[in-house]
Amino acid sequence: MKRVTKAVFPVAGLGSRFLPATKASPKEMMPIVDKPLIQYAVEEAVAAGMTDLVFITGRSKRAIEDHFDKAYELETELEMRGKADLLKIVRDTVPSHVNCIYIRQAEALGLGHAVLCAASVVGDEPFAVLLADDLLDSLGGSPVMQQMAEVYNYHRCSVLGVMNVPREQTRQYGIVSTERDSGEVQRVSGIVEKPKPEDAPSTQAVIGRYILTGRIFDHLRQLEPGAGGELQLTDAIASLLKEEAVLAYQFRGVRYDCGSKLGYLQATVELGLKHPEVGEEFAAFLASRV
Ligand code: UTP
Repeated sequence: MKRVTKAVFPVAGLGSRFLPATKASPKEMMPIVDKPLIQYAVEEAVAAGMTDLVFITGRSKRAIEDHFDKAYELETELEMRGKADLLKIVRDTVPSHVNCIYIRQAEALGLGHAVLCAASVVGDEPFAVLLADDLLDSLGGSPVMQQMAEVYNYHRCSVLGVMNVPREQTRQYGIVSTERDSGEVQRVSGIVEKPKPEDAPSTQAVIGRYILTGRIFDHLRQLEPGAGGELQLTDAIASLLKEEAVLAYQFRGVRYDCGSKLGYLQATVELGLKHPEVGEEFAAFLASRV
């Protein structure tokens, strides 16, 4: 049985909500405590068995390639100083059995376009898409992409990670309608990008985790610009739905929207509190502040 081994990381967005921090460096390299967002997403994909990681990059994104590459000078320096623990951290950004592939999206034409850039590498296989600015804490359970890979392995069709959001926030998400009202895994009957609260078919929002079949590329190729003038992945999924089953999966865990300032701060506090090195002192500091 063919498993999902390819993961696509679209990292070519402008990150305008974090300017000026993202003027010259990628949003995905912003750290939560001591690890960049992109590394959390890569670790989640690797834990789910992915071995080919395809990064869709753009201008000012060189730091991502460097992060997952060998750092000769730094490693030599750490070796000379006998800093074995730090050397391990530097070398362990990506395991040696994993392949990193970089593709440039020349213009940020939308998430749908970014995913389409991976077509030649992915071919017609099922593949995962992870948006690193959605940080998912599985609260000690299996990582969310692994949960989704299990759903894919069982049902053999596309799977969208979803969660319930307050109705007034539907404008920030792709929203699915499903054939039933409840259940961890549901069949999607419709999907729309950023509906107004009064138009939203439900409050089940798609977050930045997908497993898609290779058929999605044909639908992406036929896309016209959608919401915000961008080529929307949501619109291609709406078209895919007419041809094959797509599932919505209510993942187990907590999602932080690290593409927004508030979500980024919330993730920093929560993961800071759990951090083995600084957690206790940080908790004491927070307690002294409130
Ligand atoms: P966002 O909607 O968060 O856009 O993209 P953004 O540009 O990153 O951030 P803001 O809104 O300007 O602050 C969702 C994901 O899709 C990727 C982004 O990198 C992000 O991971 N993306 C978006 C692309 O790779 N290419 C695009 O053309 C658009």
